[in-house]
Amino acid sequence: MNILVVGNGSREHAIAWKLSQSSLVENVYVAPGNAGTAQIATNLSLEQNNFEALADAAVKYEIDLTMIGPETPLSQGIVDHFQIMGQRIFGPTQSAARIESSKVFAKNLMRKYGIPTGDFAVFQSFDTARDYVKKQNLPLVIKADGLAAGKGVIIAYTQEEALEALESFMVEKVFGDAGRSVLIEEFLSGREVSVFGFTDGVHCSNLIAACDYKRAYDYDLGPNTGGMGSYSPPSFWNEELSNEIRSKIMLPTIKALASEKSKYKGILYGGVILTSDGPKVLEFNCRFGDPETQVVLPLLVSDMPSILTAVIEERLDEIDISWSNESCVGIVVTSAGYPANFDIGYKIDGLDNVDEEGIIFHGGTKNADLPNDGIVTNGGRVLTVVSKADDMNIARSKAYQNVETIRFEGASYRNDIALNI
Ligand code: GLY
Repeated sequence: MNILVVGNGSREHAIAWKLSQSSLVENVYVAPGNAGTAQIATNLSLEQNNFEALADAAVKYEIDLTMIGPETPLSQGIVDHFQIMGQRIFGPTQSAARIESSKVFAKNLMRKYGIPTGDFAVFQSFDTARDYVKKQNLPLVIKADGLAAGKGVIIAYTQEEALEALESFMVEKVFGDAGRSVLIEEFLSGREVSVFGFTDGVHCSNLIAACDYKRAYDYDLGPNTGGMGSYSPPSFWNEELSNEIRSKIMLPTIKALASEKSKYKGILYGGVILTSDGPKVLEFNCRFGDPETQVVLPLLVSDMPSILTAVIEERLDEIDISWSNESCVGIVVTSAGYPANFDIGYKIDGLDNVDEEGIIFHGGTKNADLPNDGIVTNGGRVLTVVSKADDMNIARSKAYQNVETIRFEGASYRNDIALNI
């Protein structure tokens, strides 16, 4: 098979890395990719929103299957476009991707079909939302309806914070149309877990779980980021919990989407919180998580292209998907200043010094303009450094040993990934 992966982050490097290990795969292409994907695949200099160019490339390079990493092209209908062009593609259609691209759609679906989630109300008018907030207990969760690069969720502990969030989403329109509708949700407390299941629209695979770290600094301080690290599996994850989430959340959601003429095929990512009333959905995403993918795919024992093909052909019930019993830890190394302003173009040293089993998934990297200048930083989240072992603590210390061998100006990372879990 020839496979095309769309995206340019560490998640897409991990996907390309896993796919390229399959004996079924001849060539992997990544569009646009990064310096890491260039080492294991062929990068194509095409942007993720240029559907026509991507579909043309699928013809030119005789691609058998395309896999999409990020949510934006999915929410803009890349799967529909490829299907019209007769190209095989893994991922949900634009209509099914609304499970992530419209929080209002997702919450209404959960309410209609009895899928456990927090209570909520939807507003299009700032004045009505403000009056509602004044009558609610705190904290409250204020969420923009549309995609907002992970920044559209505010937990408001005071009335002032709630009103500030409403003002910024609905009046200042910091997220443009994504904040046209706003959800005000009940705050739920408990352990959070990211769960992933492959689905062909009817069946759902066994689930794998990971935890991620969203804040920039140790002990969950600082601003929200696109993810500073992750580990899999969580210590509380077991077959009983997995079966409960699969039967009460994942399968009913897949069925609900099919009933709404939005059959969902791809990987379904549930952001789940374990409350004292049982697991509830915080949100759904229509793709693999980042940085969870970087710790989940090294644990996948089964052949990945066979899974993707079974999803597309709607015969997921015919295959077994097995995961290793090991533990995996990933530490994200960022540019200084991330997630706010940061500089790029710094040379990265030490990439070859990691131990044999360590894996480095590149995110914001590129090959320097001059061939002898090596690899340089090209984004905020530069690398995910991953180790796996029989024991989480060993995986953690191996990952940190490897992180310490990597050097570039301003390299920053959290010190508490997978600590005391
Ligand atoms: N880990 C959060 C996300 O992928 O959205």
